Parts: sequence; structure tokens; C-alpha cells
Amino acid sequence: MSVNKAVIPVAGLGTRFLPATKSVPKEMLPVVDRPAIDYVVREAVESGCDDILFIAGRGKEAIENYFDRNVELEQVLGAKGDQARLDLVTETANLGHIHSIRQGEALGLGHAVLMAAEHVGDEAFAVLLGDDLIDTRTPVLPRMIEAQSEFGGSVLCLMEVPPETISMYGCAAVSPTDDPDIVRITDLVEKPPVEEAPSNLAIIGRYVISPAIFDLLRHTPPGRGGEIQVTDALQQLVSLPGDDGGGVTGVIFRGGRFDTGDKLSYLKATVTLALRDEEFGDEFGDWLRQFVGTGQ
Ligand code: UTP
Repeated sequence: MSVNKAVIPVAGLGTRFLPATKSVPKEMLPVVDRPAIDYVVREAVESGCDDILFIAGRGKEAIENYFDRNVELEQVLGAKGDQARLDLVTETANLGHIHSIRQGEALGLGHAVLMAAEHVGDEAFAVLLGDDLIDTRTPVLPRMIEAQSEFGGSVLCLMEVPPETISMYGCAAVSPTDDPDIVRITDLVEKPPVEEAPSNLAIIGRYVISPAIFDLLRHTPPGRGGEIQVTDALQQLVSLPGDDGGGVTGVIFRGGRFDTGDKLSYLKATVTLALRDEEFGDEFGDWLRQFVGTGQ
């Protein structure tokens, strides 16, 4: 059975990007001319998941509005005959079937995922973190969905990171398979101290998860940082028998990825995508080279 539901948690507080995120959700910060969340939703839809559920929170209405119609704006642009801009604003309202529910309190990513239980039902589903931007040139979710239909259970996206940074991520212990890009996950630890990390393979913000996770999440106590961690429930899936929805596979991702909730990574995403812009990428590149060359 193919995966067609995507859950996109966007209820986090975005404290790393204050003060901007005091009143603007980090997912709405523009990367060139689109909010970061636009790229994430397009990725889900292009991977076959056109049923999108946002797990939103207080102050995140701008995200829902962005994917809804704006009739007043449509009328103004229509009256002006500005078809190109009219297309831009109507297109985002027609990107898949968008649903939204609230996570009343940001109790952790695991808690956010649990909010999706009723909507998802008894099928494997994708989770895309709303602030994790995967380069469209190196898509990974379709490969993960394929791996899920091949191996069952759940599939995580793993990326090699410099060993000294592993304590910022969930970390996987793995054993190899015949395919260099596919591993069997044997254990998971959330944000381990460097000296205790079983590998330098970090879990990044794309998941395909068995519905068996919901029962586990209901009984998962707050972990690291006092938050209900999705990694803790995934860790239990590792040892659950396949017949019960257990088993976790890793897809090694070697492409481009940006964390738009982190200022430096956000700037890198902006520059990377701006350089590729059809309208002004070349001109921006010329300016950037000169700017870097002269240091001002
Ligand atoms: P982050 O760790 O990036 O947390 O969450 P955050 O609160 O959004 O950002 P900082 O660290 O304060 O800057 C990872 C993902 O999980 C979602 C976030 O929206 C983000 O997409 N999340 C986290 C929730 O939806 N609910 C939560 O309770 C926690």
C-alpha cells in the first residue's frame, strides 16, 4: 500500500530564530520568494502524499492562510489583469488536501505526531518537519516510501554529520545491507553526548512511520528536555516484531538539506536557491562574487 498522508508538525516555538519568530512562524520566513513551508508541502505532494495534516499551534494561523484562498487578493489581481500573480496566489491554495489540527501545548515532537493518530488511522504515513528543507535536486522521500513498501515497518532518513555535532540530533546505530544507501537500524538515541554516540548518522526531518507508533507514543514519558520525543517511540519500534508494525530501516541521504529554523543554515538556503533563480540568479551570482572578492 502506498503512503499518501503526510503529517507536518509546525507547532514548535522557533526560539533559535528570535526575535523574528516572536510573531512570525519560522516556517513562514521566505526563502527567496516562498515561505519555507511551501517547499516542504510541495515535496510531500510531489512524493505522492497529497493529504497533508499540519500540527499547528498558537500564532501559526499564517501557515493555514497561506494554503487557503485569499479572495480579496484574487479579485484585485483579476481586475488588474495580472494573470501571472493571480496564478501564484491561487496555486498555493490548490496544493493537495490541506488539514490542520492544534497541538495545544508544545510538549515535544512525539506529542505532535500523536495528535495525528485519528486522521492517519491504520496506515503508514510520512512526517516532514516544517523547518527542514531538502534540496529539490536530491529528493529522498520517494526512496523512503519505496523502502517502506519493500521492508514494511518504519523508515528514517539518516545523514552523516561531523561526529562532534551528533549531540544535536537523534542518532542511529545501524547494520549494513547489500545496498550502500539502505541500513537496518538496531538502536536509536536522542541527542547523545559525542562520546556515547553509536555512529555519526543523524536522523533528519523526513520519516515514514508505521501506525504502531501511536500506541507507543501514548505511553512514552517525557524524555530529553522534558519533551515527548519521537525518537524514544521509534526506538521501541526497532525491537517490535514486524507483524506488529515494528522494524526500522534507514535510508542514507547524501543530498542537500537546510535547517531553516537555524539562522546560518537559513542564510545558506537563501543564497543557494537565489543563485538558481531563473529571473535574477545570474545577476545575483555576479554581485555575490564581487561582494565576496572585495569583502563588502
Ligand atoms: P525543533 O527542535 O526545531 O523545535 O522542532 P522548535 O521549538 O520548533 O525550534 P527551536 O529549537 O525553539 O528554535 C522540530 C520540529 O518539531 C516541531 C517543530 O515545529 C519543528 O518542525 N515541534 C516541536 C512541534 O510541532 N511540536 C513540539 O512540541 C515540538
